Amino acid sequence: MIVDWAVGEEMTSRILAELPYSRPDVIDRPGVYPPSVDSALLSRAVVGELKGAPPNQSVVELCAGSGIASIYAALTGAVVCAVDDRAEAVRAVAANAAANGVDVVAVQADVRVWMPVQPVDLLVANPPYVPAPHDTLDGHAWDAGPDGRAVLNVIVDRAPEILSAEGVLLLVFSDIAGVAEVVDRLATNGLAGSVVDEARLQFGPVTSERAGWLAERGLIEPGQTEERVVVVRAVRAAAV
Ligand SMILES: C[S@@+](CC[C@H](N)C(=O)[O-])C[C@H]1O[C@@H](n2cnc3c(N)ncnc32)[C@H](O)[C@@H]1O
Repeated sequence: MIVDWAVGEEMTSRILAELPYSRPDVIDRPGVYPPSVDSALLSRAVVGELKGAPPNQSVVELCAGSGIASIYAALTGAVVCAVDDRAEAVRAVAANAAANGVDVVAVQADVRVWMPVQPVDLLVANPPYVPAPHDTLDGHAWDAGPDGRAVLNVIVDRAPEILSAEGVLLLVFSDIAGVAEVVDRLATNGLAGSVVDEARLQFGPVTSERAGWLAERGLIEPGQTEERVVVVRAVRAAAV
């Protein structure tokens, strides 16, 4: 299946144009998720979080793809590590960071096992979140199990051991994957989370193609063509 990568390109450009940095040059590479609306929302949240923060904040981006959010974090002066399990993504992060004159440590690892050397101030991710029937094509960057939370759940469960005491978690995903379910799981892990940003957009080609199946499973309404992509910010419940 050919995927139209330029989902919501206009909205992506608009969000990134509002940020106080020039849009980083990110080269399109086969097999690497290109900056899209969700990437732009994560980038905006990262810049907002780091604005006015003490220098040298430690930032980790899980499921980094092209590394665009990591590049924005580095532009603010943070010390940044970007993690992805695909070699092509890790190569893209390194090349994109170099092309934009910033340092980002790019690591190839699965979110299920990766651990930082020290607790992290800001942990961010735009993971795969599209619900997928088991027999789907290779959609590693977006397919996330029958409920869309296969990778989200891992990150939510692991965040408490990765974050510093005052650390912040930023997650981007579609409401099709269940906002309440993610917030509830954060609470089970001692984290208080809420939606701090969102964008409403037309389904991209992958979700459109699956709309019938998603409706059959009750994950969307029949005939629905739009989704809400949200940014959830979470901190330790004790820190609220
Ligand atoms: C939706 S893309 C997001 C890319 C980038 N963060 C952005 O915002 O543009 C998801 C990324 O997660 C990576 N990924 C999927 N499963 C992973 C896993 N278990 N561990 C690490 N990375 C994973 C994919 O390779 C892909 O680059």
